[in-house]
Amino acid sequence: MVKRRINIALDGPSGSGKSTLAKNLARELGFVYIDTGALYRTVGLFVAEHGFEPGDAAGAVSVLSHTKITMRLIDGGGKVFLGTREIGGEIRTPEMSRYASDVSKVPEVREFLLETQREIARENDVVMDGRDIGTVILPKAQVKIFVTASPEARAERRYKELVEKGEKTTYEEVLADMLWRDKNDSSREIAPCVPAKDAVVLDNSKLGIKETVDAALEIFHKKVGA
Ligand code: DC
Repeated sequence: MVKRRINIALDGPSGSGKSTLAKNLARELGFVYIDTGALYRTVGLFVAEHGFEPGDAAGAVSVLSHTKITMRLIDGGGKVFLGTREIGGEIRTPEMSRYASDVSKVPEVREFLLETQREIARENDVVMDGRDIGTVILPKAQVKIFVTASPEARAERRYKELVEKGEKTTYEEVLADMLWRDKNDSSREIAPCVPAKDAVVLDNSKLGIKETVDAALEIFHKKVGA
């Protein structure tokens, strides 16, 4: 009999500290960390490289037929490849955040990326971070956590990250962008960013990284056992 893998679905809005939490949880538990946003960002990159605007749904659909996106497990995490090209920091810009958010509203794009995500979760114990992991991708995940924080706390964190990377931006710009993305990601018809019915909501507005990881580990142990 094939052993059922343990899947942790970690959803939440941008800047909620999901990816930091997911990486830490994966390390603590010896699980594989999967950043599904990177898949949408990679589709966005390809759409941009074909000269389409972010909101051009037909343009996004047209590139899918010649897009091959795979995720390979390297050093305990999923690395995204577009064909043979390894994708890195080029998808982490504010422009690509916008492209990713827009292409993620296109049903064909979501369908295109669905099986890649499920396959990894079938074969590995994973902490999968995204927006619809607990609701759509892995509805049977043993543990579902919806991480959130106030828009101001999230914008502050994202602003610091961008400044550290040398991006020229302001807090106000980051906050406006975040509010736009929140609306775009949570009000879309398909797979909106909302907690699954059986998810535990973890608000970390006032928690540091360690406290957030400890809270998530407690949720994990309650659900799965020691
Ligand atoms: O997690 P992120 O900021 O890298 O995600 C980029 C965009 O991709 C985000 O605005 C919404 C979309 N996304 C999604 O719709 N579903 C996911 N599972 C992950 C990301």
